[in-house]
Amino acid sequence: MIFTVAVDGPAAAGKGTISKALADRFGLAHLDTGLLYRAVGAKGGDPVAAAQGLTPADLARDDLRSLAAGEAASKVAAIPAVRAALTQFQRDFARREGGAVLDGRDIGTVICPEAAVKLFVTASAEVRAHRRWLEVGGDAAQVLAEVVARDERDMGRADAPLKPAADAVMVDTSELSIDEAVAQAAALVAARL
Ligand code: C5P
Repeated sequence: MIFTVAVDGPAAAGKGTISKALADRFGLAHLDTGLLYRAVGAKGGDPVAAAQGLTPADLARDDLRSLAAGEAASKVAAIPAVRAALTQFQRDFARREGGAVLDGRDIGTVICPEAAVKLFVTASAEVRAHRRWLEVGGDAAQVLAEVVARDERDMGRADAPLKPAADAVMVDTSELSIDEAVAQAAALVAARL
């Protein structure tokens, strides 16, 4: 069975949490595509060469979840040759036997426009920044500024900008608990299975 769930949206909207829960519930494989860009940004040097030669060890680094790694990821993610180098791996993952959930920014628009289910997970910038701050700590105002700057870069780039696919279903998690957000997403997936 090939069954792809595309989960896109801005930083800290709840994509990862929802995607993991959907993968568990429906027995699908899960790929956090942001990790690929984080690993390329963290590797340093020529980002195109880093993307072409990405290894499992690069993806297993402990420091990939930091704000700095997110910022570096968003910079290398604007380079078309970096995106091109990571495309086939993501497409193959999306079409794997047994089904898959991919979360990112361009899954429903570029990587897998034929996905059976497309979700665009959002929340207000304040709510998202608060969630990220709970994870990383530090100065809350700075976390908000970085989240907003990263979203603007992701929405403003020419190649595969962050935007909902025309046929994506919006899931606004601003006022939802994790369980409520997962239940909403799971109902949308169950309706297409
Ligand atoms: O989702 P996450 O915050 O880990 O993503 C880090 C950065 O990687 C994003 O801000 C974005 O610039 C980039 N990214 C992307 N396309 C994806 C996933 C992530 O451009 N499919």
